[in-house]
Amino acid sequence: IYFVQVNNAGASGVVVDEERLRAMNIDPETWLSGKATNMVQQVIKTSYETAVECLNTNFYGVQRLTEALLPLLQLSPSGARIVNVSSLRGELWRIRGDDLRNELGDLETLNEEKLDSILKRFLKDLKENTLEAGGWSLMLPAYSISKATLNAYNRVLAKRHPSMLINCVHPGYVNTDINWHTGPMPVEEGARGPVKCALLPDGGPTGCYFDQTEVASF
Ligand SMILES: NC(=O)c1ccc[n+]([C@@H]2O[C@H](COP(=O)([O-])OP(=O)(O)OC[C@H]3O[C@@H](n4cnc5c(N)ncnc54)[C@H](OP(=O)(O)O)[C@@H]3O)[C@@H](O)[C@H]2O)c1
Repeated sequence: IYFVQVNNAGASGVVVDEERLRAMNIDPETWLSGKATNMVQQVIKTSYETAVECLNTNFYGVQRLTEALLPLLQLSPSGARIVNVSSLRGELWRIRGDDLRNELGDLETLNEEKLDSILKRFLKDLKENTLEAGGWSLMLPAYSISKATLNAYNRVLAKRHPSMLINCVHPGYVNTDINWHTGPMPVEEGARGPVKCALLPDGGPTGCYFDQTEVASF
């Protein structure tokens, strides 16, 4: 018996002209490769307000909820599971800036304060219109950094709580509201990865980021 916390809520951090986006008929491969970045600049816009909402939902919401639930999770008869539903948009290799990528990849120096300072820096650069120079992702910038910091937070938590299994999972490119129904995968299939991570057997992996295709074999 163990307790499970699944962090699934997500916000895209952008304002979209859905009609124009649909008319562009971008195929999933172009979306996922990042080749659509320039094509969609006119129809997908990041405002300061949508970015704040996105960071609050995808990163700070997870952090606050986890801090609130940790005392309960620690009572779990066998190690609790925490599942953070993340995204391939937050994968480290997609981060353009070397310094930022190194900062997020360095588990020795990562902690909540550092992650908070990275997100504050992002919002400052967004406000000053200097995202490109700052090395931030230009495709869904707020969403990307919210998930990259979520992945980093996942590693910090897993290191701190070795008795639990704490993992991130990218559910796949799923047909839901968050991507304006551009994703081809049915939701039932998209749910598989998070469920598999929630049901990991004792002694399973922790502190990992999984793509939905990797968890299929669990
Ligand atoms: N779909 C994909 O292709 C895809 C790919 C990678 C990762 N993901 C991740 O998968 C997770 C689930 O997303 P989805 O695809 O199922 O999208 P979705 O259909 O848009 O669902 C997102 C959910 O998050 C809730 N939510 C948004 N802001 C919230 C807030 N501030 N507080 C509480 N709940 C909030 C929404 O509630 P309301 O409906 O009430 O607003 C909605 O139920 C997200 O973390 C997303 O980033 C999805």
